[in-house]
Amino acid sequence: MPTQTFNVNGQTVNVDAPDDMALLWVLRDKLGITGPKYGCGINVCKACTCHVDGKAVTACSTRVGEVRGRSVTTIEGLANGNTLHPVQQAWLDRDVPQCGFCQPGQIMAAAALLKRTRNPSDAEIDAIENVCRCGTYGRIREAIKAAAAMMP
Ligand code: FES
Ligand code: FES
Repeated sequence: MPTQTFNVNGQTVNVDAPDDMALLWVLRDKLGITGPKYGCGINVCKACTCHVDGKAVTACSTRVGEVRGRSVTTIEGLANGNTLHPVQQAWLDRDVPQCGFCQPGQIMAAAALLKRTRNPSDAEIDAIENVCRCGTYGRIREAIKAAAAMMP
């Protein structure tokens, strides 16, 4: 079995896994990083959203062989030490989560959006496809706007 070497949340990791194993299973089952959630496994719900080289991807539909030598960030690595990312802070301030299951993916999608554009339009926020069965979309939109105002 090949050894996959890549960076996760600032640390280099070496994992024995076949190239076509889903990144989600490598993160959750081999590395114990459980922030990215399993919802559908088919690139629909986006609960598994994390970043590869700063861009949002769904870990269930990304093969570990595709991230060799690249940098993966999960919700566990989004804060800067003890300082929360503005999106995390805005989520707390607005009390966004309900059950919480979709929220790591929501936050990672929002952080990637704000990395691309500091002042996202409603249409750009609505283009985030992460599903929330609890219907927290209104608070998510408010929190993204609040986070945008807090971005350094
Ligand atoms: S679990 Fe990855 S998109 Fe649903
Ligand atoms: S907070 Fe429950 S699914 Fe989104």
